[in-house]
Amino acid sequence: MRERPIVPESEMLRQREFMKLVKAIEVRPQRYHIVSMGCQMNERDSESIAGMLEAMGMTRADVREEADLILYNTCCVRENAENKALGNVIWLKELKKDKPDLMICVGGCMTQEKGMAAMMKKRYPFIDLIYGTHNLYRLPEYVWRVLTEQRPVVEVLDIDGEVVEGMPEVRKSDFMAFVNIMYGCDNFCTYCIVPHVRGRERSRTPEAVLEECVRLQDRGVQEIMLLGQNVNSYRGGGAEFAELLYRVDRLGIPRIRFMTSHPKDLSDELIHAFGELEHLMPQLHLPVQAGSNEILKRMNRRYTREHYLELVKRLRETCPDIGLTSDIIVGFPGETLEQFEETMSLVREVRYDAAYTFIFSPRQGTRAAEMPDDTPESVKSERIQRLIDLQQAITLETLEAQVGKTERVLVEALSTRDARQVGGKTPRGHMVNFPGDASLIGRFVDVEITSAGRNTLRGKIIGG
Ligand code: SAH
Ligand code: SF4
Ligand code: F3S
Repeated sequence: MRERPIVPESEMLRQREFMKLVKAIEVRPQRYHIVSMGCQMNERDSESIAGMLEAMGMTRADVREEADLILYNTCCVRENAENKALGNVIWLKELKKDKPDLMICVGGCMTQEKGMAAMMKKRYPFIDLIYGTHNLYRLPEYVWRVLTEQRPVVEVLDIDGEVVEGMPEVRKSDFMAFVNIMYGCDNFCTYCIVPHVRGRERSRTPEAVLEECVRLQDRGVQEIMLLGQNVNSYRGGGAEFAELLYRVDRLGIPRIRFMTSHPKDLSDELIHAFGELEHLMPQLHLPVQAGSNEILKRMNRRYTREHYLELVKRLRETCPDIGLTSDIIVGFPGETLEQFEETMSLVREVRYDAAYTFIFSPRQGTRAAEMPDDTPESVKSERIQRLIDLQQAITLETLEAQVGKTERVLVEALSTRDARQVGGKTPRGHMVNFPGDASLIGRFVDVEITSAGRNTLRGKIIGG
């Protein structure tokens, strides 16, 4: 098991001092706006960023135009994510023309890419602060330096991050919370940039995780999502993650979910947990990526199609109602039509509740980016469309099979389409919309499912 140093308390104390120093500066940003891109890890980081900025005396602005500090928490998992981040940053240049005191900060996965910070510094000199993924906790110090030195600060560390405890936070929701259990990734799937920008795998201690869960529970949190790029290798793998789940389950928080699980490390104990734990929801995101053994091998996924299907079978034996979801890449370098058909047949066999599908995007520095790829983009587009059509049909059938059931739903928000409706998830993770008002948000209700749409269910409340 890899032990990683925890950032010493004295360092966090130092950062707390910088927060106070920034707060005491008279002419400093008063309102901040964070744009969070990418995955849940970034969303969780953005809550820490908000915590630090508020400790520096700033308040949140809902729109960018009202802010005098704008921070982009970027993603680079695929090229379009990166283009979106860069496009946004260029737009800020215009905003800064009208508002010269605007402080622009860019951090997250994209700035951690090799050569990116140097490129940005040169091409976008209007950015005030560029930092990476490993030094997020030093944001207060960097903001202080920007304000006192009156010149851009660019700091991206090459070393792996440590585990940082005790950062301030402003949580997005009062009743649902993300809890990191580990950071980084050691898997080096050949297409993936995450291990390059998030560093080596390092886990929080069970005590730190439990302490955070208890704190959230005391504040009224009803659902927690444990986060890691591969939770199955928590503290080196084996049964460690399942053991953590048993301990979290005992706290009595009504709903527990987690993501992401790598199929190669899914333990027997975790499968059992789905049959035993009262609060663990019957939902599992188990990305398969491809259905062909040859492609899986070249992706360095280290499991076979057969092994994956066996896992699915055992999960369903243990927990018949489990909802499975997946990530799938289409058009990996050299993918033949036959190999793509193997992905299609796997999807038909597993019948996911939902699948997130992506066309392969070459990322600089990854092994797959160097692999010969002679499939035209137009062919890749046709393939992904076929896959999307197939999955949509399966999703619809799955949702239709829920009609007539009564489900316990945690109400999350007003519906975006109709303010007289609210929406929330069933234990299995299906989104249901039904008539209701804002007073229900954060509460559990029993909902009878009355019909199915393309991606969501509709229903009516039959009990509180
Ligand atoms: N740790 C998670 C996933 C992180 S990235 C896991 O292992 O499942 C989320 C998803 O983005 C991946 O599952 C993969 O399907 C997709 N992805 C990652 N790199 C990609 C690339 N270069 N091109 C296309 N899709 C990619
Ligand atoms: Fe990327 Fe693979 Fe790690 Fe997931 S497990 S973050 S896909 S390298
Ligand atoms: Fe997440 Fe994107 Fe980084 S998917 S880990 S924010 S590259």
